[in-house]
Amino acid sequence: MTRQSSTAPPGGTISTRPLGRLADGRLVDLLVLRNNRGMQASISSYGGIITSLIAPDLEGEPADVVLGFDRLDGYLAGHPYFGAIIGRYANRIGKGSFTLDGETSILARNDGENHLHGGIAGFDKALWKARPVSTPDGPQVELEYSSVDGEEGYPGRLDVTVTYTLTHDNELRVRYHATTSRPTHVNLTSHSYFNLAGPESSDVSDHLLTINADRFTPVDAGLIPTGELRSVDGTPMDFRTPVAIGARIDGVDEQLRFGGGYDHNWVLNTTGSKLSLAAKVSEPTSGRLLEVLTTEPGIQFYSGNFLDGRQLGKQGRAYGRRCAFCLETQHFPDSPNQPQFPTTVLRPGLVYDSTTVYRFRVSDPRQMKDRSPS
Ligand code: GLA
Repeated sequence: MTRQSSTAPPGGTISTRPLGRLADGRLVDLLVLRNNRGMQASISSYGGIITSLIAPDLEGEPADVVLGFDRLDGYLAGHPYFGAIIGRYANRIGKGSFTLDGETSILARNDGENHLHGGIAGFDKALWKARPVSTPDGPQVELEYSSVDGEEGYPGRLDVTVTYTLTHDNELRVRYHATTSRPTHVNLTSHSYFNLAGPESSDVSDHLLTINADRFTPVDAGLIPTGELRSVDGTPMDFRTPVAIGARIDGVDEQLRFGGGYDHNWVLNTTGSKLSLAAKVSEPTSGRLLEVLTTEPGIQFYSGNFLDGRQLGKQGRAYGRRCAFCLETQHFPDSPNQPQFPTTVLRPGLVYDSTTVYRFRVSDPRQMKDRSPS
């Protein structure tokens, strides 16, 4: 572990160091971005994984707010997509197949009879080409990956670029670009597990969540959307004003039963592909506040229901059920088989271009309970 380099964009730094090697000997790098406002983001070239994200609390105290491992081995041993780039298709495709322009593609069924998060070796397990870039907005990592025609059953060669920029405004901006050689489906996301109280906290039930959505996509028992866009009104899915994640999670509700808690897609109250506020989470003990903005039409809120304490993460901590939450911006699950949903088709000559921003703020905890969504 001798290679170490660093470049210094105005007001921020990027350093690169080796994180380890894959089984086939290829070297994995870790790029650490720091801005001048106390935030730090570490990105691995394996899976494009955000391995740590350090954000200040109300007193300026920094803490790592995402789950992960201290070493590459942890990621290689298998994990539920901690911090990774998800592709080619975030979330599920029913029965692992779709037909596009009369041609049927058969994908891996890696979640019961369905396809999940790009298959067995999705983008979360790819080795990306990583390059540090200085930008006026802050330090940036540019990741590139070329997914061969037929990879995981998907048609077309897909050339993907993902950039992470840590801005001087305490935002982690994620921009996804992709082009294809043949008509295909694309839906990319980032899968960080957040706990805004920091690494000592083992529960997110007191985090207050707001989702800017009047509707969600109800699912069947296999978590495939039924096709309906259902109003959140009068249901535990109503997060239009801030509600504690744990307040209704164990209530009697068919949708919560199917998900083992929250594991659903909300239909964002946005039009077109303008960057707009999708969700907000505030944590009353630290005062940390996370805002998620996106150009995507949907967001998956997952309350960490499948975590079971068997995964030993950073500093040997056991990651138990619901010790973190995910907010995965996306097109709706199973869109390739649901023509009434916004399309995920990408054709040659067109560019997939999607942006999501994770913006960190602090807010006086005493005011959080009364905050109304904006
Ligand atoms: C997404 C899915 C969940 C689960 C997690 C990872 O949020 O919707 O069902 O697969 O990823 O475990």
